[in-house]
Amino acid sequence: MLTLSPTGTAGTKYALYQQICEQLNSLLGQETNFIANAANTSALLFESLPDVNWVGFYIPEGKELVLGPFQGKPACVRIPFGKGVCGTAAAELRTIVVPDVREFQGHIACDSASRSEIVVPLLNWGRFLGVLDIDSSSVNRFDDDDREGFESIVSVFLASQVTNDLPDLSEEAARK
Ligand code: SME
Repeated sequence: MLTLSPTGTAGTKYALYQQICEQLNSLLGQETNFIANAANTSALLFESLPDVNWVGFYIPEGKELVLGPFQGKPACVRIPFGKGVCGTAAAELRTIVVPDVREFQGHIACDSASRSEIVVPLLNWGRFLGVLDIDSSSVNRFDDDDREGFESIVSVFLASQVTNDLPDLSEEAARK
């Protein structure tokens, strides 16, 4: 669901994020494979967004996040829950916007050029599937409108995963 305001100062960003959501929806199509869709989502965002130097996914494994599909420089592979921006977003299950990474205690620097960051958790019907992480080499690159934009993008991504999680309510399954 798109929740950005279509008017006012957020209008230009709204238009960009709406366009990306539409492109992502058609790019993912009927595909449900998590890795393939995460890879294409990273590539589309990296190509479409101005002033970003890293876009990618971290996926849960035990008590850690493990590097998933991404675009940008090689990155750290494992991040414990609760550590760094990604681990904090995973532990608190909320989007975290970091205007200046030097002021986020415990920030994990993968690309030394990164100056600001946003991390959005992937929650699919209450199940935690990972995080989407976007970095910029500019301070203050992401604001609340970007947060809404990325959360909308994540909903489009998650819509491609819903069919993987739906319980089987068929009569045949009920008889088993
Ligand atoms: N900065 C992140 C680590 C991942 S990289 O930005 C790709 C963090 O603090 O969790």
